[in-house]
Order: sequence, then structure tokens, then C-alpha cells
Amino acid sequence: MQIERVTSPEGFDRAFAVRVEVFVDEQQVPIELERDDRDDTSVHFLAVRDGEVVGTVRMYEDPPGEAHLGRLAVRASARTGGVGRVLVDAVETESRALGLRRVVLSAQLQAMGFYERLGYTAYGPVYDDAGIPHRDMAKELGP
Ligand SMILES: CC(C)(COP(=O)(O)OP(=O)(O)OC[C@H]1O[C@@H](n2cnc3c(N)ncnc32)[C@H](O)[C@@H]1OP(=O)(O)O)[C@@H](O)C(=O)NCCC(=O)NCCS
Repeated sequence: MQIERVTSPEGFDRAFAVRVEVFVDEQQVPIELERDDRDDTSVHFLAVRDGEVVGTVRMYEDPPGEAHLGRLAVRASARTGGVGRVLVDAVETESRALGLRRVVLSAQLQAMGFYERLGYTAYGPVYDDAGIPHRDMAKELGP
């Protein structure tokens, strides 16, 4: 499996197709909520296996000095094979390279165990986003 950084509109379309499959079709998130202004300023990564995009994630800096990881999606047929872990690793590597000291994210409650395995800690209350319960999580990045 390779991780590719999105550098073109076509690359973004490939990432977005996975997000539609996972968040809109599978999780019933309204399509109008799936695309937002953050997409224009985010770094997007693709996980590609045998020429097929099997997962995606995006990151942007907010608040200053911290990376926000979001829209992590792995196609159902490719899950529990390490794709999600490699995508999170890509965000952490990019964050370190940018001098960011912490990664924050908004975790669906069902995904919290996944992030905990990767060293993330939950904080604050449970809240609703797009009809799905979430909780904030964060990880301090070492050198
Ligand atoms: C959550 C998601 C990204 C995980 O991706 P994945 O490729 O299946 O995860 P990995 O195979 O890299 O899993 C890494 C570890 O976490 C575990 N894990 C995966 N999903 C988990 C979950 N939902 N809860 C608890 N542990 C989980 C794996 O078993 C693996 O354990 P190991 O360390 O013993 O090997 C994927 O299930 C997905 O896209 N789900 C739908 C969309 C979603 O929930 N996105 C996140 C929104 S916050």
C-alpha cells in the first residue's frame, strides 16, 4: 500500500469518492455537510492499494501550532488491515515536519477504540455532529 498526497483536483475527487461511500452512503451523513470550506486548505492523503484508493484523510492547522485530523475513511472492504493506522501515521509525520506539536480530532464514539490504540486520549463532553455522537481526542507528538 502506498500513501499519496493529493496535488490535483482529480486527486481530490478520488478522495471525496471514498468519503461519499463511507460517510454519505454508509453512515447517512447529508452530502451537503460532507464537503466544507476546510477541503480547500487541507492536505489530503490517499491510501492506494493495487491502483485502488482504499482510504483517505485530511489535515489542516487549527488552532495555530496544532494539526486537526479529519474525514478519515477506509472503504468497508479494506478495514482492519492497517489502512487507517497508516493514514493516521501520514498525518502525524506531516504534522511533525510542519513543526506542529499536537494532533487533535473529533472522533465518532464507535471509532474511539481505534484512536486509543494509536495513542489518542479523549477529553471533554460527548456532542452531536451530523447526527453522530462524537468526542474530542488529542495526541502530543514526540520528536
Ligand atoms: C475507523 C477506521 C478509519 C479504522 O480504519 P481501519 O483501516 O479499519 O483500521 P486499522 O486496521 O488500521 O486498525 C488499527 C487497530 O485499531 C483496531 N480498530 C479498528 N477499528 C476499530 C474500532 N472501530 N474500534 C476499536 N478498534 C478498532 C484494529 O483492530 C487494529 O487493532 P490492532 O492494533 O490490534 O491491530 C475505519 O473503520 C472506517 O473508515 N470506519 C468508518 C468511518 C469512520 O468511522 N471514520 C472515523 C470517523 S472519526
